[in-house]
Amino acid sequence: MSKISAAITAVGAYVPEYVLTNQILETMVDTNDEWITSRTGIKERRILKEDGKGTSFLAIKAAQDLISKKGLDPKEIELVIVATATPDMKAASTASFTASEIGATNAFTFDMDAACSSFLYGMSVASSYIESGRYKKILLIGADKMSSIVNYKDRATCIIFGDGAGAVLFEPNEEGLGFQDEYLRSDGTGREFLQATYGGSSFALTNETLEKGGQYAFQEGKTVFKNAVFNMADATVKVLERNNLTKDTVDWLAAHQANKRIIDATAKRIDLEDHKVMMNIHKYGNTTSATIPLLINDYESQLKKGDNIIFAAFGGGFNWGAIYLKWAYNSKN
Ligand code: UT7
Repeated sequence: MSKISAAITAVGAYVPEYVLTNQILETMVDTNDEWITSRTGIKERRILKEDGKGTSFLAIKAAQDLISKKGLDPKEIELVIVATATPDMKAASTASFTASEIGATNAFTFDMDAACSSFLYGMSVASSYIESGRYKKILLIGADKMSSIVNYKDRATCIIFGDGAGAVLFEPNEEGLGFQDEYLRSDGTGREFLQATYGGSSFALTNETLEKGGQYAFQEGKTVFKNAVFNMADATVKVLERNNLTKDTVDWLAAHQANKRIIDATAKRIDLEDHKVMMNIHKYGNTTSATIPLLINDYESQLKKGDNIIFAAFGGGFNWGAIYLKWAYNSKN
């Protein structure tokens, strides 16, 4: 019997309707469209405005999109992973609620948090379960309601983040398509430069910390930027070298959409032409765990069976890495 690899066989996505443009942000903080566009590449982002709706709302919608596109019976799903840095609540996982709401009643479920690398790490975990032969249908959802931890008075963070979700289905493949290789790393000393500090077990959310805005995400942008540029490119090069890939045999770069300049630097490091670099940061901003599945969803119709795709991410923690995957199907669209 040929070796089992883990292939992505379906994609779905959801972004909220409300569009927060650079022009609207100009009325909220001291910023301007020219600065945001030239420094980040972002033009607009989607925000989930409705009270009482959290990350699970986004995850459920993305999963339902995939289920209807694929014509999948949700009862066949064996595992639901929600990659997120903004779970609905503590202790009760967003994945459990999501699975129940979509009718995945035969699945076990858990959340995974590695900040902006959550989806990339989730790809590693989902693929391993498939390759082991233990499960045959795994739904991996990347979803974040970043607006729940963004301070809309802080111009250093509010211009960057948006809300959204994307979902992929992993299934076994016996043609050698799907997941091929990974290079994943972490460095916990980086946590001081990007975090949402308070509300965790070490830092209580008190009236005093709330007054200081302790519930919001903070980042020292320049330090994160430098580390992101170096490490995302480094991981990408390592995966290329290990798999004897060149700029000519790589078909796509699907990199976490944090800043267009970081993505461009990674593409430049491997000398990849612009048309092979997936990009949608202008539409959604940085949606943390959702950037990679939103990219796959937007580019699905252009992907061909056998295409070599390099996925790469860098995020808070610090956590980063790159994954090499061979696309497994031609889109019907
Ligand atoms: O997804 C997870 C990981 N996160 C990232 O990868 C994000 C990495 N970091 C970045 O993308 C960039 O560092 C930012 C987009 C956050 C900031 O860009 P930058 O080029 O690093 O700007 P900076 O923070 O060094 O600020 C440059 C100047 C400063 O003014 P002075 O001191 O030179 O007068 C800032 O005060 O730009 C100012 N500034 C702004 N001006 C207009 C900072 N934010 C803004 C703003 N609008 N929103």
